[in-house]
Amino acid sequence: MPCGDILGEKPGGKRSKMNIAVLVSGGGTNLQAIMDANRNNQLGNVCISIVISSKPDAYAIKRAEIENIPVLVLSKKEISDPREYDRRMLSALDRAQTDIVVLAGFLSLLGPDVVSRYENRIINIHPSLIPAFCGPGMYGIRPHQAAIDRGVKVSGATVHFVNRNYDDGPIILQKAVCVFNEDTPESLQLRVMTECEQVILPKAIRLIAENRVIVENNKVILLAEEDAAGKERL
Ligand code: GRF
Repeated sequence: MPCGDILGEKPGGKRSKMNIAVLVSGGGTNLQAIMDANRNNQLGNVCISIVISSKPDAYAIKRAEIENIPVLVLSKKEISDPREYDRRMLSALDRAQTDIVVLAGFLSLLGPDVVSRYENRIINIHPSLIPAFCGPGMYGIRPHQAAIDRGVKVSGATVHFVNRNYDDGPIILQKAVCVFNEDTPESLQLRVMTECEQVILPKAIRLIAENRVIVENNKVILLAEEDAAGKERL
């Protein structure tokens, strides 16, 4: 059942739960981490209202179907006009009564209409410690290949707000792992995914749901639990 049907409206127009839309393109390991955290009540007052995939064959779709979460495919191949893609995306997000958009392995750049409508309400997980190894073309194995090639001794993952540029919005959370001499890009990628991405993405969602994330001067300030009471949600 879509989240919107079971929540009803709170006075003042805010729903009792925070609805998140999760955008995917691939295997869905980050989506799985979000769904597992939600099932274990580790996300706080959150409902995953829809999963939107840019690829019809993404395994993330199967993962969402197993959890009975509504799925929509908006294929970048089939909807080649970016403005039409944005229009369809906005319509789907509005229908799902979305509060926060979570990019979990989503490989397309959202257009300006979506980014401005959801300013500081779209978060992305990137597999490096931004500002290292990020920007256009830096996705999948490439950030890890670059980290190995550069010989860095730590790498990790970053959750950040999305603006109109790749991997450029205010940073919410980061988590690091050591890079070992014997690491390959693949072994580093696996450690970053399991020890960093799948930990900080659910945590960032919980912090936002608890009104503990504020953006000032293009930087994120994380509030302690006691300071968040009464704060308006993003
Ligand atoms: C992950 O490494 C994530 O950092 C990047 O996309 C990759 C695949 O994610 N954004 P998933 O398995 O589809 O969640």
